Amino acid sequence: MPTDPGPGGQIVVRRVGELQGTIDVPGAKNAVLKLMAATILADGEYELTNVPAIADVRILGDLLEAIGVRTWSPTPGVLRLTNDGDLVPVAPYELVERIRASINVLGPLLTRFGRVRLSMPGGDDFGARPIDMHVAGLEQMGATFKFSHGELEATADRLHGADVTFPFPSVGATENIVTAAVFADGRTTIDNAAREPEVVDLCEMLVAMGADITGIGTSTLVVGGVERGSLRPVDHRTVPDRIQAATYVAAVAVAGGELTIRDARAGHMQNLLARFADMGLELTATDRDLRVASEGRLRSIDVQTLPYPGIATDYKPLVITMLSVADDVGIVTENLYPGRFRYVEELLRLGADIRTNGHHAVVRGVPRLSGAPVKAHDIRAGAAMVVAGLAAEGETVISGVGHIDRGYDDLVGRLAAVGADIRRV
Ligand code: UD1
Repeated sequence: MPTDPGPGGQIVVRRVGELQGTIDVPGAKNAVLKLMAATILADGEYELTNVPAIADVRILGDLLEAIGVRTWSPTPGVLRLTNDGDLVPVAPYELVERIRASINVLGPLLTRFGRVRLSMPGGDDFGARPIDMHVAGLEQMGATFKFSHGELEATADRLHGADVTFPFPSVGATENIVTAAVFADGRTTIDNAAREPEVVDLCEMLVAMGADITGIGTSTLVVGGVERGSLRPVDHRTVPDRIQAATYVAAVAVAGGELTIRDARAGHMQNLLARFADMGLELTATDRDLRVASEGRLRSIDVQTLPYPGIATDYKPLVITMLSVADDVGIVTENLYPGRFRYVEELLRLGADIRTNGHHAVVRGVPRLSGAPVKAHDIRAGAAMVVAGLAAEGETVISGVGHIDRGYDDLVGRLAAVGADIRRV
């Protein structure tokens, strides 16, 4: 049956058996976008390295260009950004609506220019993504917000320090409050801050620029405000992508074989890897690499998503895909985005046995999936469809590949190089 390929064409995968070889993990989407936004804070020329070749980097690049930061890539993996100080603190709708991370320009623009106009970021396919914690934190620091016609306007001559306690450790809100606090008058404390490695990466870049941040990597961040104009541009290497790394672990888990995943930081994936070991994967980590061997059928586990260091919601489509071919029954509980189960209907098309109820999915493993046309609903769900295709007899044709391109740097080429039968059409 012909299907609409959607933007980005289709990926065709067939099960061929074991994967063998080495895969390099690129830099993290969820870090690099925030690093790019941080260049708003100080004039000069920046060089970001280990930058993944993904659509979201290009979209945020376009947004920064619209604001006045020039971006160009002299070689693959390197992004130079020049901020000559002549910026317009306005983010247009056409760009903001394409990428949720555009909300990360809010803190830097507001703290540097005292005002910002931004279209409200939209939701994702897995539900609404509110920004109330970003707004409440900035209001505590003296910002005034106006909302009209789908836009927000924030003003504050100079933000002041505050004690901000989040009801939930939001990644985006932590990042916006930290960047805003960099030029605030006085000290800002963020309690129940997010501790994700990507938040740490942003804080480390800010410190290298001259910001005063302590408690990095803990749930209490303390930011001492410095004068506007006192930060300097830096060169910074993007932290490797733990979600892309986990995708290659999931691939070898369902296909069998042995992979060395280079630049996978096991220390950033400890809880996940412990559960993968419970499922029967053999994992050996060094400082920079992770070796994964998978033999025989996976065992089922129960798992729940939590903020870092818990198991990230972004891993969940991969875990459910692995469970769908594991021995026995696994229960997956989603604690961040209740609606984030839409790809389950696609797995059912491949012959998986999964029931969802509210925050829970009950996955009864079947010996083998069976290839069919499926859709990528979002970035991570799309990658999970590719992994499912490696476990399915016959051909799996994935449409909506544009979603995968938003966050994956050559997923098809990387898997083909280790023996997968996968191509893009
Ligand atoms: C980031 C990641 C995303 C990941 C998520 C959780 C990026 C670009 N995206 O998204 O891939 O899935 O972290 O690990 O880095 N919330 C509110 N009010 C707010 C902010 C958040 O209610 O003001 C809720 C959200 O709806 C969600 C939870 O808090 O239920 C976590 O969201 P948050 O950590 O902010 O995620 P993002 O930064 O949007």
